[in-house]
Amino acid sequence: MISLAITSQKGGVGKTTVAVNLAYALARRGWSTLLLDTDPQGSVGLSLSEKARKCPGFYDALRTGKDGTEYILHTRLPELKILPAGHLENFFETKPPGEEAVPVLTRLLDALAATGLDVVIIDTPAGLTGYTSDILRVVDYALVPQQAEPLGVRSLPQMLGALQQLRQQGARLQLAGLLLTMMQHGQHESAEVVRELRQIIPPRLMFESVVPRDPLFLKASGLGVPLGLLFANPPAAAVVFDQLAAELEARLQLHSPDDALIPTRLMD
Ligand SMILES: Nc1ncnc2c1ncn2[C@@H]1O[C@H](COP(=O)(O)OP(=O)(O)O)[C@@H](O)[C@H]1O
Ligand SMILES: [Mg+2]
Repeated sequence: MISLAITSQKGGVGKTTVAVNLAYALARRGWSTLLLDTDPQGSVGLSLSEKARKCPGFYDALRTGKDGTEYILHTRLPELKILPAGHLENFFETKPPGEEAVPVLTRLLDALAATGLDVVIIDTPAGLTGYTSDILRVVDYALVPQQAEPLGVRSLPQMLGALQQLRQQGARLQLAGLLLTMMQHGQHESAEVVRELRQIIPPRLMFESVVPRDPLFLKASGLGVPLGLLFANPPAAAVVFDQLAAELEARLQLHSPDDALIPTRLMD
């Protein structure tokens, strides 16, 4: 199982939107995918289902020492499961004495892996403090959404520095890539940011896929669906996540047994 945390120092950059739509795209491509919400505000629940917001989940597992697998919720798509955030209250009081979060989180990921998942996509709250830094110490990869706006880029060196520091401290974490989001086509400043970042950042650290700014994202989360399920035929902004999932498969070396080159002729 591969674990990928969606993380950024900043709020409102599209972390939850990316987590939900990417998890859906990976599941549609056949990967057994778990969307794990570690935002105490339960953002995934807010954007997908009221039920998920009320159910016990990640924080309850940490508090009780359970492995969390019993809190996994199923969705209409057999390949997509959700572990909601659950409830944070009293965590510190009931944390087992002397037990740090890292071994607890490691156990949780091991338990999830044992259920046969291929990928776990972890939505995190803004910032790298608290549990997010512990999560980043145990996951395989981080994906950093980056708003395609001049002011948005300022925090980038600090973010990359923080990931580097975690690695120096022994974390295996690798940057899966920076993902440009909220790109406004036809807007000069937005296009400039994309152009400048592509000049500075090596291609291996940046996804080719760029998420456009599109009011449909707000509409989709308001209705509790991934963008790909808003209409009978997914709109362009949803298809970007299919492209992103394909890029990730290569970067994360997700291979399935039938990955071999099998050209299927359209006609005999
Ligand atoms: N590409 C996008 N285009 C337009 N609106 C977006 C886009 N991505 C996210 N949003 C909207 O911006 C707000 C913040 O996004 P969200 O994913 O919750 O960010 P974060 O999890 O980083 O706080 C939400 O209302 C969401 O619907
Ligand atoms: Mg969020």
